[in-house]
Amino acid sequence: MALHVVPAPWPERAQALRELRHEVFVQEQQVPEALEWDGRDADCQHFMALDETGRLLGCARLTPDGQIGRMAVRSALRGQGIGRALLAEAVTAAAASGHVRVFLHAQEHAVPFYRSAGFLPEGEPYEEAGIPHQTMSQALPLRFEVPALPDRAPTARPATAASTSAPGEPEPTLPPVTFKGEALAQTRLLEALETPRRQLAIISPELDPTLFDQQAVCDALSRFVRSSASTRARILIYSSRRAVASSHRLIALARRLDERITIAKVPEAHAKDERTAVIWDNVGYWLQPDTLVYEGLLNGHDPVMATRLQERFDYLWERSGPDPELRQLKL
Ligand code: COA
Repeated sequence: MALHVVPAPWPERAQALRELRHEVFVQEQQVPEALEWDGRDADCQHFMALDETGRLLGCARLTPDGQIGRMAVRSALRGQGIGRALLAEAVTAAAASGHVRVFLHAQEHAVPFYRSAGFLPEGEPYEEAGIPHQTMSQALPLRFEVPALPDRAPTARPATAASTSAPGEPEPTLPPVTFKGEALAQTRLLEALETPRRQLAIISPELDPTLFDQQAVCDALSRFVRSSASTRARILIYSSRRAVASSHRLIALARRLDERITIAKVPEAHAKDERTAVIWDNVGYWLQPDTLVYEGLLNGHDPVMATRLQERFDYLWERSGPDPELRQLKL
């Protein structure tokens, strides 16, 4: 049987989708009609799985706030990969819509199905429509392409570092510029680290020594976190093993300033995205989309992208914790 998963605009496909959901949820699972028809369908993106004759095999929907639901496959056709294909399409659509996180309320029996597609449980199980449920979610990679931009000379570090500028002064501007190669990646990174006023977030899977095991980087970070009582830097890593083995300078600095610089380890299940990023003040970022390639973009004023990167960072931060290898180091 051929399988096609395609978008199903609600106004055109409502009748067929309603019939299928009535069969699966209302008749088979005894979900009350009032709960099934929640009034949100017209606002959602819908997907349907069809065979080569155009017969409807299954469906799913994505709400505007990034929730996948109403996943239904005709009972005689389950276990053949139709649900998996529908789910993949809905996740792709969520990423394309700019969501940093996609979530769902899984019926308990379907938890393994969603887990195998990369969703992880959140919180405790609960009941919905008389059926045990579990909230599950996954972080989505942000789509990002390095744009073509004219080069510019590095901005000279201000005589008084950003740390000493008074609150209320205009934000320092840092025009967008791409970088390619180790040396430029380092230069632009230093520019980025001189800019934040309030908060700084760094994600680097292994705390790349080429970028972060540098005295100038530590000096810039140290100036930033000491600049006012409330400035803080948060650093997310996937593994500190190599950094610990090589006496990484940034780890030593974070130990000295542990009230102000916090390093947390992303749990393995969430450690998927291979990019390095420095994000500050919901306004600017330095971004290297592929950890292995020194190529990326520095942009001091892109609040939309900076906020999305920050939201994704916060999602991971909430699920991360102290790194046992770093804790041992403190004893
Ligand atoms: N429990 C455990 N594993 C399940 C499962 C279940 N209920 N349903 C599917 N899986 C596994 C399959 O074994 C398969 O694993 P494999 O690739 O290792 O063999 C994988 O998940 C993909 O399954 P797939 O064939 O793509 O799923 P499906 O087409 O049967 O669709 C549902 C899955 C849940 C959509 C379908 O069972 C359904 O419509 N159920 C009734 C409605 C429902 O409960 N919807 C979900 C509400 S949260």
